[in-house]
Amino acid sequence: MADEPLVLGIETSCDETGVGIVRGTTLLADAVASSVNDHARFGGVVPEIASRAHLEAMVPTIQRALDTAGVKASDLDGIAVTAGPGLAGALLVGVSAAKAYAWALDKPLYGVNHLASHICVDQLEHGRLPSPTMALLVSGGHSSLLLSEDITSDVRPLGATIDDAAGEAFDKVARVLGLGFPGGPVVDRTAREGDRKAIAFPRGLTGPKDPEYDFSFSGLKTAVARWVEARRRAGEDVPIADVAASFQEAVTDVLTRKAVKACKDNGVDHLMIGGGVAANSRLREMAQQRCDRAGIRLRVPRPGLCTDNGAMVAALGAEMVWRDRAPSSFDLSADSSLPVTDVHVPAVHGDVHGQAYDALGGGGR
Ligand code: KG4
Ligand code: ZN
Repeated sequence: MADEPLVLGIETSCDETGVGIVRGTTLLADAVASSVNDHARFGGVVPEIASRAHLEAMVPTIQRALDTAGVKASDLDGIAVTAGPGLAGALLVGVSAAKAYAWALDKPLYGVNHLASHICVDQLEHGRLPSPTMALLVSGGHSSLLLSEDITSDVRPLGATIDDAAGEAFDKVARVLGLGFPGGPVVDRTAREGDRKAIAFPRGLTGPKDPEYDFSFSGLKTAVARWVEARRRAGEDVPIADVAASFQEAVTDVLTRKAVKACKDNGVDHLMIGGGVAANSRLREMAQQRCDRAGIRLRVPRPGLCTDNGAMVAALGAEMVWRDRAPSSFDLSADSSLPVTDVHVPAVHGDVHGQAYDALGGGGR
């Protein structure tokens, strides 16, 4: 196998059709077709619309990625795809496409975990991940603290949200403030004009008896809604920028406080932050300050690599090839609730192509 594996990654867990191509830790192409505008009028992602959009975008996005990378499909060392977690129908489109390309090109197929991919993408920016690495993953569907000894095989959850994900809280607060969807980027922008100390919103699960590494954002979201409602009822103007800044401050305070504590408690001196919310400018700033103070090296990919994309899947796929992990079989299924500990979905038996042939009704080969 090549020293620096050339891998194509497909990501379709939500509303982004992402196709990335990497050589080892070098990003060659990162093509994304988003259906986000098709969902905006519904105020959230509509799974059926997302699946249909993936279907339409898949082949042109793969072609665009190959053209940008300047490589031939036949040169690939493997094809990686998000097997879960995510929207079942959306995942299915990516998994089917990956199988079709891997089968037609006779390449190994790697069904990988979306969350581990969000961590591994940082390799494209800051080189291979040290062991151990602490990861704070914050997206529209997840908020977790994960300890990874080996990104291809060992990801251990230390804590997670017990209700809303951090990104979900951004999206809901944006709706309350009439800022549109998705909420994260617009709250981030609006907050720049506001006073983050204007309103003391609650910091969930930070009491002495609360679980140390779990998160809760539902109470915060409700507190923001109540505060805004009370203002409106009193006929007063709502200081949108101050509310956005104070809300954002509460989220980032809790996330960074718990992440730094997890590093200290576990003797880990590298913190990686990934997922869509890692694009947040205040989160990046506060994390940097707190990590500097604690002597922790912070790794956060550039914002474009934090949100869902195919490059992150390709990055994890390349690491799988590098480390000689077993490919997936061709009866790989999409698993909407794939546990984070299942970093990839290996074949149970050795002969993956033979299995696929059998699964397709080809009989004994
Ligand atoms: O990782 P991602 O692209 O998709 C999921 O796997 O969920 O994350 C999307 C989430 C959305 O909730 C979006 O509002 C949030 O990430 N987000 C942000 C920012 N950019 C995206 N949240 C806060 N600040 C941002 N700049
Ligand atoms: Zn994601």
